[in-house]
Amino acid sequence: MKFWMVVSLFTLALAKHERYAGWRSYYVTPATKEQLATLGSLESKLDVDIFVRPRVDREGMVLVKPQYLNEFITAMEEEGIPYSLHTEDVKARLEVDDEQIEARHTEFRSKSTTEKPYDNYVRLEAIYNYTDGIAAKYPNLVTSVTGGNSFEGRPIKYLKISSSNFQNRSKSIIMVEATIHAREWIVPPAATYAIHKLVENLTDPELLENFDWIILPVSNPDGYQYSHTNERFWRKTRSTDQSSLSQLCPGVDGNRNYDIHWSTVGTSNNPCTETYGGSKAFSEVETRIVRDILNEYLDRLTLFITLHSYGSMILYPWGHDGSLSPNAFGLHTVGVTMAEAIQKKSLPNFPTYKVGNSLLVIGYGASGAGEDYAHSIGVPLAYTYELPGLSRGLQGFHLDPKYVRQVAEETWEGIAAGAKHAREIVNRKL
Ligand SMILES: *[C@@H]1O[C@H](CO)[C@@H](O)[C@H](O)[C@H]1NC(C)=O
Ligand SMILES: *[C@@H]1O[C@H](CO)[C@@H](O)[C@H](O)[C@H]1NC(C)=O
Ligand SMILES: *[C@@H]1O[C@H](CO)[C@@H](O)[C@H](O)[C@H]1NC(C)=O
Ligand SMILES: [Zn+2]
Repeated sequence: MKFWMVVSLFTLALAKHERYAGWRSYYVTPATKEQLATLGSLESKLDVDIFVRPRVDREGMVLVKPQYLNEFITAMEEEGIPYSLHTEDVKARLEVDDEQIEARHTEFRSKSTTEKPYDNYVRLEAIYNYTDGIAAKYPNLVTSVTGGNSFEGRPIKYLKISSSNFQNRSKSIIMVEATIHAREWIVPPAATYAIHKLVENLTDPELLENFDWIILPVSNPDGYQYSHTNERFWRKTRSTDQSSLSQLCPGVDGNRNYDIHWSTVGTSNNPCTETYGGSKAFSEVETRIVRDILNEYLDRLTLFITLHSYGSMILYPWGHDGSLSPNAFGLHTVGVTMAEAIQKKSLPNFPTYKVGNSLLVIGYGASGAGEDYAHSIGVPLAYTYELPGLSRGLQGFHLDPKYVRQVAEETWEGIAAGAKHAREIVNRKL
């Protein structure tokens, strides 16, 4: 009996990554802007999945599906883009990744210290358990709000953190949104660590004296859950509509679904691709919830940050055509301040952060992104963070769990520095 249970659990675990049989991952190092742009175009052409964003002369990593392997190799050879194999057997490597996470959980259990959601890659329940616990323990400081339910009916929860119950209208509001892309597992630790630093270990009182905070650790809970239970590389939401293609290929890329030059560049109208922008702008309840929060607090919002991975980048508008907003100077200086704060706390084996307009840094355009939308409706400072993935050191598909807390801590330095600098420049304008 016991034997069979063990056997069936084992098969279940193996079956979990079965769908990635035949997938391969490659390092790519574009040498020119043109090569970088070509790589970007493969995202929609060959459904190449850009896992670590490359830059000119900085290696990135991409996932290639078996049916596109030959075309991918041909494209690399024809364009002369330097590439090399990262993992021949994606499925096997994912099993090693799982073991690392499990070993980390075990380490905490054996020390009998509570594992926090910024100590490891954790499941949705652990994140909600943590935020619910914080709201219950600090009722004068923290309010947990359910912005609505996801497509599959999961609550989308965010915390409002304020020493004055959001009543003092001279405070700036800072919003941090995370995990619209499901498989970016390093992101919720960074968001929950921000909560920890504001509520459980406030070392800089100014951050509550002058600011109110909105932190949304998982804006796409369906996708996040699915990336843990079914498909490790799931990126999109889990919605379907009436079209038969959407029944076959559920989900929308939330970061292409905002109403800002929607469905124009760096996105696809094919539901079966990773960058499908949806049947219309804001087709997804998940992005509508972010939109509604932004609109509710717009008059006091000075800084909006959406957290993603990987790339070690701080990006600002406009992403669809690379043009600069009238506030480009402010966007750039605050961006640099945040990157410097992160860098000061970072480790030598982590890549240096790059700051700039998102199209110019990434090398190709994307429309319908959250950061652009927030800025377009009037948030003076809006950014995408691409958190670090160690390039050559990244053997699997996430940083070793021992680095999770490091990333969370250094990211917080960036957010805190950004808040303070944002207030300075926005005040100066008044
Ligand atoms: C839930 O949160 C509480 C308090 O934050 C913690 O003590 C407990 O270990 C957590 N449980 C799980 C399953 O994460
Ligand atoms: C609080 O945070 C500071 C700086 O981030 C750190 O040095 C200190 O160890 C933390 N204290 C606790 C009790 O976690
Ligand atoms: C409201 O916040 C500002 C800082 O933004 C502070 O100077 C002021 O004293 C606060 N007002 C009250 C009534 O607490
Ligand atoms: Zn992302």
